[in-house]
Order: sequence, then C-alpha cells, then structure tokens
Amino acid sequence: MISDEDRERVRAATDLVQLVQETVELRPRGQEFWGCCPFHGEKTPSFHIIPATQVWHCFGCGEGGDVFSYVMKRENLTFPDAIRYLADRAGIEIADDAPTARRGTKRTRIIDVCEETCAFYHTMLMRGKDGRGRTYFASRGLGSDICQRYRLGFAPGRGALVAHLSSKGFTPREMVDANVAIKRDRGNLADRFYERVMFPIFDEQGRCIAFGGRIMGAGEPKYLNTAETPVFHKKRNLYGFNWAKEHIVAANEAIVVEGYTDAIACWEAGIKNVVATLGTALTEHHVKTLTRFAKRIVYLFDGDAAGQRAAERAIQFVETGSVDLRCVILPDDLDPADFLRDRGGEKLRALLDAAEPLMDFVFRKLEDRSDVSTPGGRARALEDACRLIYPLRDSYMIDTYYMQIADRLGADVDMVRQSATKVFRQVAQEEQTAKTRERNRERAQRAVSDRRGEDARPVAPAPEAMDAWEGAPVEEEPYDYVPAEAQAAPASFAPTAPSQPAAPLTELERRSLAGERELVCLLASYPDSFRAFADRITEISWIDPRNETIAWAVLATPEGTPVPEVMSSVRSVCPEASKLVSAGTIDATSAHPTETNIEFLLDTLELYTIRRRMRAAQARLRTDRTLSAEERRDMTIKATQDAARVRELERAVEGVADPFRTLGS
Ligand code: UTP
Ligand code: MN
Repeated sequence: MISDEDRERVRAATDLVQLVQETVELRPRGQEFWGCCPFHGEKTPSFHIIPATQVWHCFGCGEGGDVFSYVMKRENLTFPDAIRYLADRAGIEIADDAPTARRGTKRTRIIDVCEETCAFYHTMLMRGKDGRGRTYFASRGLGSDICQRYRLGFAPGRGALVAHLSSKGFTPREMVDANVAIKRDRGNLADRFYERVMFPIFDEQGRCIAFGGRIMGAGEPKYLNTAETPVFHKKRNLYGFNWAKEHIVAANEAIVVEGYTDAIACWEAGIKNVVATLGTALTEHHVKTLTRFAKRIVYLFDGDAAGQRAAERAIQFVETGSVDLRCVILPDDLDPADFLRDRGGEKLRALLDAAEPLMDFVFRKLEDRSDVSTPGGRARALEDACRLIYPLRDSYMIDTYYMQIADRLGADVDMVRQSATKVFRQVAQEEQTAKTRERNRERAQRAVSDRRGEDARPVAPAPEAMDAWEGAPVEEEPYDYVPAEAQAAPASFAPTAPSQPAAPLTELERRSLAGERELVCLLASYPDSFRAFADRITEISWIDPRNETIAWAVLATPEGTPVPEVMSSVRSVCPEASKLVSAGTIDATSAHPTETNIEFLLDTLELYTIRRRMRAAQARLRTDRTLSAEERRDMTIKATQDAARVRELERAVEGVADPFRTLGS
C-alpha cells in the first residue's frame, strides 16, 4: 500500500501541464491549456487542462481526471504503478510495502537489468577473453575511446549474460521483460544476443533501455534490436537523444540519421545535434519530441531510392507543430558514416546547410519519376502527387499544395483539385480495406489464442495497434449521467433510493446537470470567489449528489486556502472529484470575467431549480386528489412567487451572452 501522504507528495511534485506536454502539443487559452486528445484520434483540440485544479478532460472522448488517471491511461499502468511512475520521475522515495517495493517498479527493474547488461557487455568488449568484438570495432575505425564514450559492448552469448544477471539477483521474468533473455522450449533461459557487437540505447535521461546488436560480418539479421518493452518503444525513442539534446537546443536544429554508426560518426566529426531512428522511419512521436527542442529538423537520408520513400512518408509531418522539415539525400548511395569517412565533415556541413524543404524535394522528385512531356506521364505524375499529399488533405494549406503541383506539372489548379478529390477518396477506401483486413486478422488471432487458453493478461497495445486506433473513427459518447450508487460512491452521498433504477433525465435535468458541472469546475478553481454566495448554493436542488458534496467540501475550506489544498480536501470526501471537476468549459469558452460567469451560473442553476419545482408542483396539483384545499392554496401562492422569480432570473440571464452552449436556451 502506498500511503495517502506519499500519494499527495507525488501529486504536489508533478505538474500535469508539463507531463502532458511531453507528448501532446498544448496551447494556452484563457487560464487553460488545450490540445489534441492523446487518447483518441482527433484533428481539432478538444482536450484541456486546468492548471489550477490539475485536472484534464477531453470533450471528444469524455475521459478526464487527475494526473494519476492520466498516467494510468498513457502508460497503461495500475493506480499504484502510476504513483510509483510519477514518484520515480520526480525523484521521490515512497514508503511502499507492496512486494515490488524493495525491488522498485517493473519499469525501474527493467532499466536496472538493461544497465547491468550494458556494463557486462562493455566489460566483455574491453577486457573479455574473446577479442572478436574489439577486432571488429577496430577494423571499422572505432577505437577504445569511442567504445567507452558510447558504452559499446560485445555479447558473447552462450548464457554468459543470464548467468551474470542471475548472480546479481535478477529474476528470469525480469530478464525476459527487458528482452535481454528468452525462454527456450523447456523453460530454460537463453541470452537473446549472441556473438554480436552491441550498441546500447539510452533514454532521455541517459539510462540504458534497449540494445541494437550488429553481426560481425555478413549474415541476417544485420542488426538485432530489443523488441518493444514497457520502457522501449522504437517509434518513440531516438538513439543518442541523451547526448544530442543540449546541442539540438543550441543549434535550434535536429539532424536525424538512420543508423547507430551514422550517429556516432557525426558526433565524432563534431556534428553533435544528431539522433538516429531505431530501424523505423521517422514517426509523429519523434517529430513531436524533437520539435520540443528545435524548430528545424533535417532528415538525412542514405542513398536515393530508400531515402526518397522515407521522404515521401515524412510528408505527413510537414505541418506538425509548425516544424521546418528539411531533407538531404546523400550522393552515390553513401550513408552518413561512409560520406564522412570519404569526404569529411566540412562537406557534410555544407550539404546540411543547403537542406531542401521536404515538400520541394518530394515535388521535384515527382517530375524526375514520370516523363511529364507526355500526357500519360503527366497524368501519372499528377496522381502520384495527389497520393503524396493525401496525409495533408485536411490542411488549411491544401490549396497552396494544389497550386505547387499545378505549377510544377503545368496543369490547371481546378484540375488538380478535382483529381485530388478522386484520389483522396480512392486512398481512403484502400486504407479502410487494409484496416478491416488488419482487424479481422487480429480478431482471428485472438480467437485462436483464446481457444488455446493462453495467458489473457491485458497487455499494452503495440504501437502499431495504437496507430491504427488513432485513425479509427471516434465513437461519439454523449454525456450520460451515471447515478452515484452505480459508481460505488460512499454511502454518505448516495441518493436515498439506491435500488431505484435511474430514470432517464429530462431535458431540464440534463441542463441542470451541465450547469452543475460548470459550477463545481469554477468552484474548485476559484474557491474564494464563491464564499459570498454560499446561501445561493444552498438553494440549488442538485441532480448529481456528488456535485453537491464537492461544492460543500470546497466551501468548507477556510478563506485563502490554496487551490491544491482545496482539491485535496475535496478528494477526501469524493474520490472522483478530479474527474467531476475536470469537465467544465466555461473558463475557457467564456469571454466574461469570472465574477460574471459565477453569477450567470448561479442564476441559471436557480432558474432551472425553480422551473423543475414549478413543474413538479403543477403535476401534483393536476394529479394528486388527496391534496387539501389549504395545501392547494399554499402551493399556488408558492408557484406564483416562483413564476415571478423565474421572470427575474430569465431577465438576468438574458443580459449575459450564454458563454457556453451546453446550457442551451
Ligand atoms: P544500415 O543497414 O544502414 O546499417 O541500417 P548502418 O547503421 O549503416 O550500420 P553499419 O554501418 O553497416 O554497421 C540503418 C539502421 O537500420 C536499423 C538499425 O537501426 C541500423 O542502424 N536496422 C538495419 C535494423 O534494425 N536491422 C537490420 O537488420 C538492419
Ligand atoms: Mn547505413
């Protein structure tokens, strides 16, 4: 168990905005930050963070909560592991009597395994009996100083690593999880890397998280890399980022190469703002990571054919966060390491400085590919061009791209546009078919493994699966009130008739609920502004009792209590408070000062409360035959008063432009 104090210490040490910004581009709007939701595919931002309350919410997928629920979702962790993850990150020691406590979290254990493996391989390279690794590196001009600088290694294989790690107290499970060992048929453990020279891969903080192992000479595969693990994702990590980061910042430019040896050769030639992808093309994650540190990315490709394909694929990132994406293709099928060896750093520098914008490059290549002097060739080039810009089809720049294509091919812009529409539809269909086929394949596989009764533990979706998922259509989930008891809320704020199935809400009730949501959100952000209105809040007849609990927990704090403390006392009476207070939009969408919004909300909620009361009274007067004449008279007087108050409130609310559409009119 992790204690509440430890959990709150971790919360206090973590800034949600910063955490989210690691993977999501956020823009400030009012007091908030907005961006595209990392949990469902979307092009326009409906995900926001309220820094004051440290809560997040997505209006697209309806998810929301605090920093822990965010990490649980992002890293696919349990709640305690999410706390440990953030504690780790913040450098906080937590007293944790769970069995993993002494050993650390699964992630830190995997990193420990990798670090120990890295040290072992390095020792084997530098001082091992088997000198083939040393000889191999030396033959490639990588001397012992370079081997030390990049912690290169040699994997002897034959169980040497497994034996070493066992002696250091690592369990078979941990070695397998880190993917440095594999289980053989009868449960025996074997080293994963055999007789290879090793390139350890580090995370941003310089901790070893994976390996690339190169065969010494010819053979397949040339490089064997760590598979996906909880700490290593080839679509996210970049080789050398730990060393290159400060140089990338200084140069405001990141150079991306494709090979470990290319990156090392560049650094050794004094070109230090270089990272390498890990056997994949540049991904959106890579681009986002790099653009946190530099506005310009130069993608340095090996020879022509493959480079051109990679360039074409990279087009989709042209507009990611206003990045200036450029490319260089090396001549004569040289890779950067070869080029540096043959022609030197000066020449490479010159090529990098002359890097061409990716878009120009790709369009230029189109003309080379088809003979545009014939009608058939032009038609082909036009179709190719349209396919290329398909990933940018929703861009507000799309007309500019049409014009560029028209210019280059000597075609009419309208013709390009028409042709693009046709090609886009075709490509979309092809993608859909491919996706369906992929889904069916997965389903079939799952059915097979289910029948075999294999371990059904949920696993983190593979990054590939995530990509397909990101593109999948969003299932619109309307906001639906779930009564408190259905969410296992403590009895103290469960409604009085918990066995009653929840009746669907009327339109008026739904609007009231939307207002409540806005109110608790504002309350949590500006507790002191509400203290004067406590008696008006008493008048509200709440739809969701949890909102009422939250409101009173906020108002029960003394004036001047800092917002994080208010939130923590709110959470102590309502565990779901973070999620509930995350769903308001008014602060972000309203142009009015907070005071106006507060009054508007109080007026609106009172208005709805009274309207509901009047409706109930009317219904009762109509149908309840047991009412005495006196009761009827009292109810009628009350209804008349209510009607007067309703008119007053309607006038007050009308004076304020409804800053959020949720309430309707
Ligand atoms: P290259 O084949 O260009 O290798 O692959 P390299 O980096 O130039 O290596 P040397 O100089 O011949 O030793 C580029 C990158 O692609 C990935 C590796 O990350 C490699 O650095 N790759 C390549 C693999 O993952 N597996 C392979 O079998 C080949
Ligand atoms: Mn290469």
